[in-house]
Amino acid sequence: MTVSKPNTCLADAVPKQQVRVSINGTETTLQVRPFRRLLDVLRTDLDLPGTKEGCGEGECGACSVLMNGEPVNACLVPIIQCHDTDIQTIEGLAQNQVLHPVQQAFLKHGGAQCGICTPGMVVTAAWMCNRKLDAEQIRQRLSGNICRCTGYSAIVNSVAEALGADQGGEG
Ligand code: FES
Ligand code: FES
Repeated sequence: MTVSKPNTCLADAVPKQQVRVSINGTETTLQVRPFRRLLDVLRTDLDLPGTKEGCGEGECGACSVLMNGEPVNACLVPIIQCHDTDIQTIEGLAQNQVLHPVQQAFLKHGGAQCGICTPGMVVTAAWMCNRKLDAEQIRQRLSGNICRCTGYSAIVNSVAEALGADQGGEG
């Protein structure tokens, strides 16, 4: 019986390229294969495991990071798209060892259980800061972030407190 060699993944066959990117305020120059996922580069190459992988298909938001200040799913972004951008991950939110107000509110309200969704939730919530939103608007903007544990009330209450918004009750 002849055993054929597995096909080399095309993404792995593309030559490495230089990508210049700011990660949590630090300019970094990477030599990487251009179609590697931002998620893998963060977690594996840059030792920033705070960004989580849930679905790997753009459905759950566990991998949310900010690119030039806007939320993106790091599992869907090829690293080449990050050239000359600013990326902010969960590791970059606390300043001078002081937690971001969203992180403090999650602690206070028990907004995390297993924690897989939490970094993506917190990063998305941090993006909402400086916006005047009520609880319903917070729920809408968090709709791309899926949690299988909390039932969302503790999360929405956490975000509402951090934003100074009315908390939305149960649900
Ligand atoms: S892991 Fe990226 S959206 Fe689910
Ligand atoms: S805390 Fe477990 S998935 Fe949200």
